Amino acid sequence: MDIFRKKTVESMGENAGKLNRTLGALDLTALGVGAIIGTGIFVLTGVAAAVHAGPGLIFSFMIAAIACVLSAICYSEFASTVPVSGSAYAYSYVVFGEIIAWVLGWDLILEYGVASASVASGWSSYFIGLLDGFGIHLPAAISGAYDPSKGSFIDLPAVIIIYVVTYLLNKGVKEAARFNSIMVIVKLVIVLLFIGVGAFYVKPENWSPFLPFGISGVINGAATVFFAYIGFDAVATAAEEVKRPQRDLPIGIISSLAICTVLYIAVSLVLTGMVPYTQLNVGDPVAFALRFVNQNTLAGFISIGAIAGMTTVLLVMLFGMTRLLFAISRDGLLTKKLSKVNEKTQTPTQSTWVTGTLIALLAGFVPLNKLANLTSIGTLFAFTVVSFGIIALRKNKLGLKSGFKVPWVPFLPILSAAACFYLMLNLQLITWIGFLIWMAIGVLIYFIYGRKHSLLNNESNGK
Ligand code: ALA
Repeated sequence: MDIFRKKTVESMGENAGKLNRTLGALDLTALGVGAIIGTGIFVLTGVAAAVHAGPGLIFSFMIAAIACVLSAICYSEFASTVPVSGSAYAYSYVVFGEIIAWVLGWDLILEYGVASASVASGWSSYFIGLLDGFGIHLPAAISGAYDPSKGSFIDLPAVIIIYVVTYLLNKGVKEAARFNSIMVIVKLVIVLLFIGVGAFYVKPENWSPFLPFGISGVINGAATVFFAYIGFDAVATAAEEVKRPQRDLPIGIISSLAICTVLYIAVSLVLTGMVPYTQLNVGDPVAFALRFVNQNTLAGFISIGAIAGMTTVLLVMLFGMTRLLFAISRDGLLTKKLSKVNEKTQTPTQSTWVTGTLIALLAGFVPLNKLANLTSIGTLFAFTVVSFGIIALRKNKLGLKSGFKVPWVPFLPILSAAACFYLMLNLQLITWIGFLIWMAIGVLIYFIYGRKHSLLNNESNGK
């Protein structure tokens, strides 16, 4: 059963060390917050409140947070035990074997790829809106993905922002992290400003009825807003660039998620208190709520904050994807070219440009608004596997040192997997179909290419 061959942590470590170790706990927390706060809170909250949960949106955020916190705890143990690039992909290689690792890697390519492309289109809509506000109108042909009925051919702003972020990532991870930290501060200030100012305009009667769509609406809302929490897992992909991974990775993962959870709950409470939920089905609900109470200038600032917010999401998602491709290619499951490291910047230059170009094509030409749920299903799948992975890790008794341990094993990991799978079940059928097709393609690629070219295969053949 060579498809279940496993790697040892030591063998992963042999190849590690080529990337520059520059990141600390604070950088990682900023990286996490950078990846988390974006389209989810600035865009999806509106539709989730109006169509699914009503003011009960706050419960939706709490339920999604529970699934994420449980998974984050499991990720933390793995990240501190197997601190190598590749996150869940690498963990699975150690505990479950090659085929599961590949399936998970392929799944994460979907998560990061589709998330980056859809966030870039969201970025572009906010940016075009902002330019419109200044009286600058871009021609229709370059303002949207290919759609002859609207006269649009390419979403140029989305393509440009992807290349800007790709360029930044190529300059070096420390530079990218510095840029990220500044943008994270901008978006945190904006979110806090919204909560602080918005609180004065809350009318408690807007919270009644509190659960207009009942409990099932709240659960559906949780599956939708789950997207808002995605990103803390990307912190783990930076493992080989962290100074003290065993200590810093768990801090980065858990604290970024905790900060965002508190902010999201406050935003959803204020938002549904300011505007009757029935009116929230708009593209920019947070700015809309401020316009609703005649705070137009602040609404403009919120748009700038949203643009900053989405830029950092893009940065971390693209970063995560390049490190993932780097790790997969290093193991021979994808072409070796993707794991070449540039001597000067110590970044995987080729995988960064390949990633940037693929995502730019996707965001530039394909209408993506329906794809955000694909990111969620892919992420939830990874969380489920990682949760079970903790049980396998303990059972295998690999004797590995870990800086962080999940409490109450196997109870907590099982609860975590169940919560994630339950949210998956609440996503639409079409999302499931897209997900299963993607995974089937992945399995095919493994049997045609990966199985033969795998480093482990070459080792066992004595090559
Ligand atoms: N959590 C990220 C966002 O909401 C993916 O944009």
